[in-house]
Amino acid sequence: MRVHVADHQLISHKLTYLRDKRTDSPTFRRLTEELVTLLAYEATRDVRVERIDIETPLAPTTGIRLASPKPLVVPILRAGLGMLEGMVRLLPSAEVGFLGMMRNEETLQAITYANRLPDDLSGRQCYLLDPMLATGGTLVDAIRYVVDRGADDITAITLLASPEGILHVETQLHDLTIPLTLVTGAVDERLNERGYIVPGLGDAGDRLYGVV
Ligand code: URA
Repeated sequence: MRVHVADHQLISHKLTYLRDKRTDSPTFRRLTEELVTLLAYEATRDVRVERIDIETPLAPTTGIRLASPKPLVVPILRAGLGMLEGMVRLLPSAEVGFLGMMRNEETLQAITYANRLPDDLSGRQCYLLDPMLATGGTLVDAIRYVVDRGADDITAITLLASPEGILHVETQLHDLTIPLTLVTGAVDERLNERGYIVPGLGDAGDRLYGVV
């Protein structure tokens, strides 16, 4: 897996406010969107394009546009939903699918409880959105899910990642033969015994949408 950790003062600045427990939900949501747009810029560096002939007011020229099939953006519910707006702002013509996954807080295993994705993802570039790469269980399952349906290029975008989670994804998916990239705002110190990222930002879903 190619891991790209954002190295940008503006991203670190926004992450600091996101981490701060005094930051309220509306501000947390806005910062999440802004961060995703910044991360998406890097994450879409290799988005597939095709050449197109156009005419400017002065001369014919050749440019590029997003190739078909269009990329598929997949927020992993619930917390990934908070990243969707920031992503489609940069890729308005992308299609959006949804994957509902939650982790069992005792076993820390991921459970798929909903999905709204095309059955056939052959030849699709997929962007998976999940704010926290903690144990890595959810991301591994989500990647397998889209790869089993034919996706052939995966980029996961997270706000924070743990070293343990990155290692888990790399170990579990070592036999993956398609390109896999992780773009993250930061890699934190560690996971605690409850599977939370430390220092982290707490429960991303609760901070976005409140405790339910
Ligand atoms: N999910 C979260 O929302 N936060 C963590 O720290 C770990 C998993």
